[in-house]
Amino acid sequence: MKFTEDTRMSELIHDDYRLLQVISRFGIGLGFGNQSVKATCEKDGVHPATFLAVVNFVINGGHVNTAELAQEVSVSELMRYLQRSHSYFVDFRLPAIRRKLIEAIDYSAQNQVAFLILKFYDEYAAEVGRHMEYENTHIHTYVQQLLEGQAPADHASYTALAHQHQDNHASLNKSSDELKAIITKYYSGRTDTQRLADTLMDIFIMEEDLLSHCLLEDTLFAQAVQALESEVRMKANNGWKAGAPAVSPEETAAAGDLSEREKEVICHVVRGLSNKEIAGKMFISTNTVMTHRRNIARKLQIHSPAGLTIYAIVNGLINLDEVKL
Ligand SMILES: [Fe+2]
Ligand SMILES: [Fe+2]
Repeated sequence: MKFTEDTRMSELIHDDYRLLQVISRFGIGLGFGNQSVKATCEKDGVHPATFLAVVNFVINGGHVNTAELAQEVSVSELMRYLQRSHSYFVDFRLPAIRRKLIEAIDYSAQNQVAFLILKFYDEYAAEVGRHMEYENTHIHTYVQQLLEGQAPADHASYTALAHQHQDNHASLNKSSDELKAIITKYYSGRTDTQRLADTLMDIFIMEEDLLSHCLLEDTLFAQAVQALESEVRMKANNGWKAGAPAVSPEETAAAGDLSEREKEVICHVVRGLSNKEIAGKMFISTNTVMTHRRNIARKLQIHSPAGLTIYAIVNGLINLDEVKL
């Protein structure tokens, strides 16, 4: 991957200005000085692997190993990112372009084409809005239930829900192509050409942004959700009741009481293993390791590996000579 946790945040923007959007959709503010990706993510409470996965996905136009990245990302963080993107398109970008379009096109009574262009634009914006509303209310609600450990009904799946989209990704792309073609090929009224060219540029940039968004949903997000789905189903089939949390009773013990699995995770963290390595050793998914780590942090109120090291030594979980200092 081109960018890592040690990359400076300012380098990201210098390399590709489109990353400004990614940064803001993760809720990261500007003014990060010389801070690294890792330090900034820690400060702003963002999951670094998810942020980096999206950054590297965007700069490579989606040509990355998403199957591998899907193992590392936090599904909830990625879903929040997609929801912020939806809000950006629907509440900000589409209305802003509409305002510019109205300023750029001649709406005198003689110019029927101008009205038709605006009508077409409104239909396109409505299609995008419906699409994103469907994702927020159907797909993301389903994913949220998976995150809470609720096993889906037999017939339900992420793939089935994604395919039920009335206004699917292919249809959105076709509509935006038509919009550009109508304006560039058929509009010839009196107009401020600079303004119209500028508005068209905005439409092209938004289209590229939307394509990248759709591709992210079809690949990285879909793969991460499908992995979570299989894990939740497997746990349900292994005896935990459907609808019950996907964590074992020992994992939901009261704060301060660590389960044996959580203690095992702490020992691996303290030995310097990555989430992926821990997942391999314990025969669980990376997402489950991350859930364990979140539960450990919540129960112990210790968030750093250094803090866990002290905890592990003091509580006799590990010998000093096994610790990676
Ligand atoms: Fe979306
Ligand atoms: Fe979508």
